[in-house]
Amino acid sequence: MNNKIIIINGPNLNLLGEREQSQYGSITFEKLKEICTNKSKDLDLIIEFMQSNVEGELVNLIQDAINKFDGIIINAAAFTHTSVAIRDALDIFKKPIIEVHISNIYKREEFRQKSLISDIVTGGIFGLGADGYILAIIAMQKLLKNEN
Ligand code: DQA
Repeated sequence: MNNKIIIINGPNLNLLGEREQSQYGSITFEKLKEICTNKSKDLDLIIEFMQSNVEGELVNLIQDAINKFDGIIINAAAFTHTSVAIRDALDIFKKPIIEVHISNIYKREEFRQKSLISDIVTGGIFGLGADGYILAIIAMQKLLKNEN
C-alpha cells in the first residue's frame, strides 16, 4: 500500500507556540504533531512526524525516507533558504514531496522570499498557518491514490 508518509520539520519548529506567535500562531509543536497524526489516521495514512535543528540530520532523514516512505511533507524552516544539501537529498527522492510554510515567506524579509526547494517539489502551501500541514496531508493522500 502506498500510504506511508514522513513529515519533516526543520530548525526551531520545536519551539512553536513560544516563538514569534505573530508569524506562527499559538499552536505548540506537540499539538501540531497530534492534529497531523489524527488527520493521517482519518485518511488511512501511516505517518512519522520528525523535527531536527541539525542540517545533516535532516539530510539523513530524507535519505532514509527513500526506501521507507511513499511521500514527504517538509517544512525545512530556515534551511529552505540556504541548504543545497537538503535540496539535493530531496531531488533524489523520486516520489511526491510537499513543501509547507506556516507563514507567507513571500510577504516577509527578502532573504526568506527564496526557497531552494520549490522548483523540485511536487507542490507547496504557505501562509495558511498550521492548517497548511493538514491541507498537505489531504493533498498527499490524493497524490498517493492518484486522485489529484
Ligand atoms: C518557516 C519560514 C522560515 O523562513 C522560517 O525560518 C521558519 C519557519 C514557516 O513555516 O513559515 O523557521 O518555514
